[in-house]
Formats: sequence, structure tokens, C-alpha cells
Amino acid sequence: VGAEKINTDIITLTRFLTEEQTKVKEATGDFTLLCHALQFSFKSIAYYIRRATLINLTGLAGSSNTTGDDQKKLDVIGNDLFISAMKSSGRVRVLVSEEEEECIVFDENPNARYAVVCDPIDGSSNLDAGVSVGTIFGIFKLQEGAKGSKEDLLRPGTELVAAGFTMYGASAQLVITMKGGSVNGFTMDNALGEFILTHPDMQMPKQRAIYSVNEGNSLWWDEPVKEWCAMMKEPQKDGKPYSARYIGSMVADAYRTLLYGGIFAYPADKKSPKGKLRILYECAPMAMVFENAGGQAVNSRMERMLSIVPEHIHDRSGIFLGSYDEVEKVKDIHKKHG
Ligand code: AHG
Ligand code: MN
Ligand code: MN
Ligand code: MN
Repeated sequence: VGAEKINTDIITLTRFLTEEQTKVKEATGDFTLLCHALQFSFKSIAYYIRRATLINLTGLAGSSNTTGDDQKKLDVIGNDLFISAMKSSGRVRVLVSEEEEECIVFDENPNARYAVVCDPIDGSSNLDAGVSVGTIFGIFKLQEGAKGSKEDLLRPGTELVAAGFTMYGASAQLVITMKGGSVNGFTMDNALGEFILTHPDMQMPKQRAIYSVNEGNSLWWDEPVKEWCAMMKEPQKDGKPYSARYIGSMVADAYRTLLYGGIFAYPADKKSPKGKLRILYECAPMAMVFENAGGQAVNSRMERMLSIVPEHIHDRSGIFLGSYDEVEKVKDIHKKHG
């Protein structure tokens, strides 16, 4: 490659955040510092995930979390790394994590104005098999006068100021979006130790014949979901049925759906009437990313996912997440069933 071909105008996440901050006239820099702490937590989680089998960090921690999941050692370590990054940033007042029964109020940060939700390791059942897992996050700004409690988090996803995820795959891929903004993807360059902007302004294909759902649950699905899944297997206009792709890590299934198009579903069913995925730190952040990339996300009652207000911090929901037209097909079938 000739010298003229080398890109010397590299946009790191750090530079991207600085440029984003200049667009917000009343910016104090707190959000930027919070994102730097987030960035560090992804780097440190990635480090331990990639070494897990080398330093005996795979397997169970021997405990379970409040949503009944058996905690993997890396669930616990990822959670601890994330909590200390948020606490030491000095910019986070309150935090909800999948691995913490109660929300954590940081007494060290009495004047901090942000609330963070997170799923430190998403897809952890896949860890020991070396399959991609990830970290999902969402950021709320405390309302005026709020002291910092779980009420600052029991809010609709429309009030998130930012959300995204990092997938620890062949490389670490970070996807982040701000309220009303575009979706931007960054790839970790391990040599530089920096996330580099590789997918600016991600826009989802409006439709794609790929569906992603755990059909092992179909025994417990309601009629509209069964009809939707059966439709995926019928020849479409081009005479071909959909392709099935299911990794079992929401972050990996979501990242593929965001890039290629298609639909991801974890419907509520008779076995899990409120669904499996948690609203605050799985469904809402993903819904914000997908809407800002031109897709959409609804729950099992076909309501806009971002409008849902969780009653408890670990509340669950059914979810259909994907290309705009693919989610419309699910809504049409549900309308037919009334
Ligand atoms: P987590 O590992 O954070 O508990 O999340 C697991 C979730 C999500 O990643 C994935 O989409 C779903 O569980 C898979 O569930 P099934 O194994 O029931 O398909
Ligand atoms: Mn879990
Ligand atoms: Mn998860
Ligand atoms: Mn998790």
C-alpha cells in the first residue's frame, strides 16, 4: 500500500466523544468522562474474557443472581470491573446491574448527575464455549432535584440519553448511540488499545430474510408467534424461505441483525409470561440502538419497546427487534389475531 493510502486521520472513540461534546453548548464534560470510564470497563472486561480459559476464569461462580441466572465467574468479575469504573468516574450517582439485586447508589458521588444500567456479561451461558458475549449499557440523566434512587431508573427508554453495547467477538465491537442521534460502531485496535470508528452512522436494511429466535420454546408460544415463525419457513416473493440464525447471546444476535438486517425475537410465552430479557439493561438499550439505526423494537403486546416503564429494576419483557419491515410483519400477524 502506498503512503498515500494510509489513513492518518483516525477517529478514536476518545476523539469522537470530544467532537460530540462540542455539539452540546451546555456540556460540562461529565458525560464525556462517564463514557471514558465505560470505554475502560469494556477494555478490561475484554481482557479477562480473552484470557478466561488460560487463567481458570471459565465456569460457574457458585452463586445465582436475583433473576435466577447461575452466575459465571466472569459475570461476577465483569460486574465488579464495571461497578468500580462507574464509581471511580465520579460521574455516576446510581447504577443497576443484572448481577446486583438492588440498585447501587454511589455515596462517593453525591453530586453526580447520571444513572447507568448494565448487563456486564450478556450471553454468559456461551462463555465456556468461546462464543461471542457482550456488555450492554444505558445512560439516564437524573431529573432536576433527584437524589439518586431506583426511581431515577424506572423510566421509559425514550428518556435514555445514550445506550449501546460492546460485543467481544473476533474483535471487540462497540456500538453507541445518543438520544436522537446516529448509531456509530467502533472496532478495538489491540495494538493501539483504542476503539476506532469503523461503522459511522449505521443504517439498517429495511428488510432481510434472516430470523433469529430460540425455536426450542415454540411449545409455549402463543398463536401469533407460531404463525409468524411458520411464515418464516414459507417461500417468500423470491421463492426462498428465511435463513435461521441463533447464537444465544443477545449482543451477538443483535449485532448481526443490526448489520445484515432481519429480525431477532425473544417472545413472552406460557413458560415465561413476562418474557426472559430484562427491560432496563437488555431490551431498552437495544431498542434505542435499533430505532436510531432505522429499525424498530416492540414487546409481546406490539407496544413500542422504548415506551415501556419497568415496575421493578429487573422486570422482563418479550421483544421483537429488527429491520423496520420485518417488525411490521410481526405486528400485522398480531393485528390479524386481534
Ligand atoms: P445473560 O447472559 O446476560 O443472562 O443474557 C442471556 C440472554 C441473552 O443473551 C440471550 O438472547 C438469551 O439469554 C438466550 O436465552 P435462551 O438460551 O433461552 O435462548
Ligand atoms: Mn445472566
Ligand atoms: Mn443479557
Ligand atoms: Mn448478563
